[in-house]
Amino acid sequence: MKFAFIIDPLNKLDPGHDSTVAMMEAAQASGHEVWVTVAEKLSIVKGQAWALLERVELEFVELIDDRWVAQENWYRVVEVTGRSLQEMNAVFMRTDPPVTIPYLYATQILDLLDPEKTLVINSPRALQAANEKLYAMQFPDVIPETIVSQDKLVIREFIEGREGGVLKPLGGKAGEGILFLHESDRNLNSLIEISTKWGKEPVMVQDYLPAAKEGDKRIILLEGEAIGAVNRIPSGKEFRGNMAVGGRVVKTEITPREQEIISILAPKLQADKLYFVGIDVIGGYLTEINVTSPTGIREIDRLNNVRLGKQVIQWVEEKLSVED
Ligand SMILES: Nc1ncnc2c1ncn2[C@@H]1O[C@H](COP(=O)(O)OP(=O)(O)O)[C@@H](O)[C@H]1O
Ligand SMILES: [Mg+2]
Repeated sequence: MKFAFIIDPLNKLDPGHDSTVAMMEAAQASGHEVWVTVAEKLSIVKGQAWALLERVELEFVELIDDRWVAQENWYRVVEVTGRSLQEMNAVFMRTDPPVTIPYLYATQILDLLDPEKTLVINSPRALQAANEKLYAMQFPDVIPETIVSQDKLVIREFIEGREGGVLKPLGGKAGEGILFLHESDRNLNSLIEISTKWGKEPVMVQDYLPAAKEGDKRIILLEGEAIGAVNRIPSGKEFRGNMAVGGRVVKTEITPREQEIISILAPKLQADKLYFVGIDVIGGYLTEINVTSPTGIREIDRLNNVRLGKQVIQWVEEKLSVED
């Protein structure tokens, strides 16, 4: 089969960390062709979604002393061509946030693909509709107390009397722009002003969950089913647990409460064709549903001696064979 991955530039990916590379390796190991492109290289030609594609061959990372080690030249471009994406069996849309207008154009180009012929992961329609922060608001029973607002008074009122609040830009990732808010902070007004661009952009503000100190758990879901999890513990000098800001990854299990959250999300994720997502759970509360380019596979594989990329590729193969 032919698999295309729409990614950030390949030379910017970290093969020992990025889930995209784990899935690309798994596709290659299963005998599939691996093609890559970037959102900026998509076009519509003769009415079809078209891309300038590179076929790549990967040298797989190796686990050495509990670390993924990649060769310096870990990929080789073996062919460059422009072709209709309809020739691909599966297309993974794995561009990192923020979701910009050009990102949305890319998903609208992918909309032209016939779902009977090419499986797009995640569904372009769902990527247009599901903001990673706001989508969680559809599950009010399992999220912490949360507001979304650009109004300073509304945000201040929410913060008053609380141990703390966590402010999140709606388009961020990897801890970017995440702020701890407290009513006594002399910078509070200024933080709200800067984050909302002086009242022009809404942000999310959530009740601060003290359990965040014990970790922000990433659970990877494949068509609504958990396939693995990893806990990320803040470094001690930082309240955020993201790996990108030094969060320590540790092995973990999925608790009954987390399983309950997953079973609440699953029907909606399946209906929306959000096949591959990463949810974040703190102290038994859902805090985020990552739909664009969730990570975690490499860490889970290393800690649990599993190969989630392989599981994802097998799932794609089965999904496509059912549709044949
Ligand atoms: N409600 C919360 N209470 C305490 N800490 C939180 C809360 N929400 C998020 N955090 C912390 O902020 C980090 C980033 O938040 P998250 O919503 O996952 O955004 P992103 O990962 O997209 O930047 C988390 O890893 C967690 O440590
Ligand atoms: Mg997160």
